[in-house]
Amino acid sequence: MTDLSKLESANTAIIGSATTVADLETARIEILGKSGNVTLQLKTLGSMSDQERRERGPLVNQLRDRMIEYIARRKAELEAAELDTKLAAERVDLTLPPPPERRGRVHPTMQVLDEMIAIFAEMGFGLAEGPDIEDDFHNFTALNFPPKHPAREMHDTFWLPQDAHGERKVLRTHTSPVQIRTMQRTNEKLPGWIANGQEPPIRVIVPGRTYRSDSDATHTPMFHQMEGLVIDKAIHMGHLKWTLDTFIGRFFETPLVETRFRPHHFPFTEPSAEMDVRCDRSGGDVKIGQGDDWMEIVGCGMVHPNVLRNCGLDPDVWQGFAFGFGIDRLGMLKYGMPDLRDMFASDVRWLEHYGFSAFAAPNPATGLS
Ligand code: DAH
Repeated sequence: MTDLSKLESANTAIIGSATTVADLETARIEILGKSGNVTLQLKTLGSMSDQERRERGPLVNQLRDRMIEYIARRKAELEAAELDTKLAAERVDLTLPPPPERRGRVHPTMQVLDEMIAIFAEMGFGLAEGPDIEDDFHNFTALNFPPKHPAREMHDTFWLPQDAHGERKVLRTHTSPVQIRTMQRTNEKLPGWIANGQEPPIRVIVPGRTYRSDSDATHTPMFHQMEGLVIDKAIHMGHLKWTLDTFIGRFFETPLVETRFRPHHFPFTEPSAEMDVRCDRSGGDVKIGQGDDWMEIVGCGMVHPNVLRNCGLDPDVWQGFAFGFGIDRLGMLKYGMPDLRDMFASDVRWLEHYGFSAFAAPNPATGLS
């Protein structure tokens, strides 16, 4: 018997006597591992003369191949045997209750957003969207913010670094730039989801993220707004008031919520107003319709003639109103969260408490679950 055939029968015996997959792995390392007995044989080839290597090389390599194959075959046998043993030993008790499943919750902002969309959709509003990173033109200039005017600073804007064309984009400070995108047709090649030039009459809502460098109990650097825009003939402030009051009644599911309109200034509306909802924030929770606090939830007004002109619409023919809601703020009021910052702190305990089941019964006011 040559030394190689002795080695082969010894190895075959080791492999054959392995009774578990783990044993077999130990045998494999002994044979084919870094310093396994066949590996060492392969290593000796390097120091042989050409003549010797030509003779012995193929023999050692064939031995290695047979070992690999034999180990694989044995492994399949052992695995099948182990599975049989396991199947014979284990029983599945179908009467046991399933292990508790951890359910995700719908974030209050998304819940409120769905509720708002349902109510406005019923009033005939469509949806429009725009990008979070905006240019100065859409975020400010076309909305009638004069150049270099301090009003641009009223938003604590996050500016992006100057790009190669010397332009500084912004994280949009409000959803109002989508008003411009909705009214003004552009020849730019835009992705399909970005609003682009719709003929009046227009009736859209624009939900989205907005950004300002601001943080306290009612402000966070990222928050959500819902813009509304209506453009038609003979539209007046009465339509605006009716729309917002009707919305509030449906959203809070009671006609008793008290609102007030305060005169305000926005460059893109004339006249402009803010609407507040009466609430009580004294006890840690926010309660609507009672107390002496007012929470501002929407800015609004009649679209400024300059804005219409900037979008190619004749203000003597078309008029309209617009509004911009804080979506998260509405959530705070409706669901009693005292601090806006908690909404975005990603604290799972908070989300479990204030979040909504994705499979809840439909809300009778909105028909949404
Ligand atoms: N863009 C305003 C803000 O973020 C809110 C707003 C006010 C939107 C009046 C409007 C509007 O469309 O007409 O403070």
